[in-house]
Amino acid sequence: MTKRSRLIPLSVTLAIVALLMAGLIQAGKHKKEEVQGVNVGAGEMGIEAVIFPGQPLTAEAVKSDSHRDYQRGMTCAECHDVEFDGMTSATQQFVNNFPALEQEQIWEKIVAFLPGRERFAVATVANDFPIATTVDMVLDPEERVLFVVSEVGTEKLLQLRNNANISAVRYKGWTVADGGKKEWRSVQIRGTAEVIESDDPRFMSYLKKYNLVRVTPERAVRRFDLIKVTPQQIYYFDTELYNVEASVYQRWDRATAGT
Ligand code: HEC
Repeated sequence: MTKRSRLIPLSVTLAIVALLMAGLIQAGKHKKEEVQGVNVGAGEMGIEAVIFPGQPLTAEAVKSDSHRDYQRGMTCAECHDVEFDGMTSATQQFVNNFPALEQEQIWEKIVAFLPGRERFAVATVANDFPIATTVDMVLDPEERVLFVVSEVGTEKLLQLRNNANISAVRYKGWTVADGGKKEWRSVQIRGTAEVIESDDPRFMSYLKKYNLVRVTPERAVRRFDLIKVTPQQIYYFDTELYNVEASVYQRWDRATAGT
């Protein structure tokens, strides 16, 4: 064999080695990009969620502007082990992590959502037991309070006389059963309630605001007590807010709003 003929196989071998190495490097690179999330399927909005596990977080942690993107409808707890400590709720976590509207803008949305006499579920507490009932409430947009008319002697009145704390929710939205529009809206109110009896000088003027429909004022003074609810905090929830790139949960605070 000549020197030359031995060189040819060597260069071929080198070329093959080079090709193999390039292939390996490519494969390596590819492998890195391929750290794939786990698709855990669609949520209410029909959008599939892909989990990329992050580090454990405390509830008050706020994600940075460079945080990875993820699918609409996912919560922090799906990718992070979040330590909730009773201070920051999952709802507040939304408020902290996504843009907030101005307090006045939030208030306007609350007013628009509660145009008249609206059906609410309210919870009152006595002896550590919560009781939820339904009532019609009317929002007074000027005073920023709500009025309820209640038959005298109801359980909630008894409870409110002992414990003025009240929580109320009004919601609208689709259900799986009716398959309707995939939007939800709600207001969650936390506040205090004052029971106003019919011999209170304010009773009649408040009753007017309530816009009583079925019963005459003469009967109302015999039958009813009024409840004036002063919201301290309202969470306004609106899936449409996602489309204006704001948090779907907005928090209105009486103290912050300066009312
Ligand atoms: C799809 C999964 C996913 C969701 C949902 C998610 N994260 Fe993360 N997060 C990660 C991963 C993964 C990291 C680590 C960095 C990386 O690999 O992108 C991370 C990093 C972080 C960090 C540290 C770096 C940074 O960007 O600030 C914080 C803080 C954080 N996440 C907070 C949150 C909060 C708060 C929420 C909810 C509002 C949330 N994350 C939702 C996956 C997620």
